Amino acid sequence: MKVDVLLGLQWGDEGKGKVVDVLTPRYDVVARFQGGPNAGHTLEFEGQKYVLRSIPSGIFQGDKVNIIGNGVVLDPALFKAEAEALEASGHPLKERLHISKKAHLILPTHRLLDAAYEAAKGDAKVGTTGKGIGPTYTDKVSRTGLRVGDILHGFDQKYAAAKARHEQILQSLNFGPYDLGEMEKAWFEGIEYLKQFHLVDSEHEVNRLLNEGKSVLCEGAQGTMLDVDFGSYPFVTSSNTICAGACTGLGVAPNKIGDVYGIFKAYCTRVGAGPFPTELFDETGEKICALGHEFGAVTGRKRRCGWIDLVALKYAVMVDGVTKLIMMKSDVLDSFETIKACVAYKVDGEEIDYFPFSINEHVEPVYVELPGWQTDMTKMQSEDEFPEEFNAYLTFLEEQLGVPIQIVSVGPDREQTIERYTEEA
Ligand code: GDP
Ligand code: IMO
Ligand code: MG
Repeated sequence: MKVDVLLGLQWGDEGKGKVVDVLTPRYDVVARFQGGPNAGHTLEFEGQKYVLRSIPSGIFQGDKVNIIGNGVVLDPALFKAEAEALEASGHPLKERLHISKKAHLILPTHRLLDAAYEAAKGDAKVGTTGKGIGPTYTDKVSRTGLRVGDILHGFDQKYAAAKARHEQILQSLNFGPYDLGEMEKAWFEGIEYLKQFHLVDSEHEVNRLLNEGKSVLCEGAQGTMLDVDFGSYPFVTSSNTICAGACTGLGVAPNKIGDVYGIFKAYCTRVGAGPFPTELFDETGEKICALGHEFGAVTGRKRRCGWIDLVALKYAVMVDGVTKLIMMKSDVLDSFETIKACVAYKVDGEEIDYFPFSINEHVEPVYVELPGWQTDMTKMQSEDEFPEEFNAYLTFLEEQLGVPIQIVSVGPDREQTIERYTEEA
């Protein structure tokens, strides 16, 4: 069997959690492969809303195996809080959730370093989620990180050495005062809690399951525009959010990748700092923000809103090898008379249709304007009900992006999901 991968194509928060939950019944295994609790994946069903941060969004559907892969960074304190809340709400997961021993641990001092580095950046802040993501991946790459498997042997010494090193850096940055006591207490409780889970060599597990004919869905976090190599660097996260990240973050070979689902909103949002060519600063932007409830699931920050950017989306489709597109939150545009889509950039007066090295303030979006559908789509059940203008918008996007849009989401609930083509048509 092959591994299918589901990825955000914009700056995150496209609706990955919702769609993974919808697709899970078709798979045996759901796996996260990068990122950490910087993610906030929202699911809604049966009148309940859940926000997942480190736990895969396949956890609500029956007895599927859910895996936290080696490419993920895990904060034991946040993980414990998330897992206990799920268990308390009637979703036991200890038997179904497997955690890679090679996943790296976010230490309390990583969170302090995240804050210290941001403070030191002055006006050039990335606007991170403050969860210690960057410093943890930095330690991984500089070969000084601690891994989940380390908690099983001689951990105290390794922890003390890492903490001392981090505190030295904090001191050199004049960061403080801080009180590590409470943070460490919750963190070590999290470490003990982690020991109750299946701590596995997930690369062996995933490949064994594939060889046994089991199907695997990989759940991306963040989005392609936040990828550390291809995103809007340096305003990115610290992992590879693109499709290739599923190979390194789970130990599956590139020739095992099957379908690549690319998710995008019918418009575009971004949280945190960094360039965003189609950002709207007017009442249209405010309207999208209000109708789309565009506030961060992790930090509560207001998301910046703008029109869909097809230059960036085409680039994401290319680097991810997207085979099926999923359009989210089209209902947010239900009341718009017209809709704009950015089809090219003007850079210093010259029009380009490819994603350039940098999308700084010199980049100006070139728009086409399309008629809105001005129809409430939130209760629609099938594509037969789609208004003509909406179909025209879909066709336009498919022509621009060169990939079929297979699923359209018309509301946050699991049920508000419309599949367009028959399975494997
Ligand atoms: P993720 O990080 O990609 O999983 O996305 P988030 O959960 O951070 O943000 C997506 C938000 O949009 C959540 O509040 C979802 O409940 C909501 N949502 C998802 N799909 C739709 C949709 O089709 N329409 C509307 N109105 N909301 C949606
Ligand atoms: P999901 O999975 C949106 C953004 C932060 C910041 C930058 C770096 O829910 O789509 P980090 O804490 O990762 O070092 O922050 O990346 N960011 C996200 N934005 N959705 C996310 O995750 C994000 N995870 C990180 O706002 O700009
Ligand atoms: Mg999110």
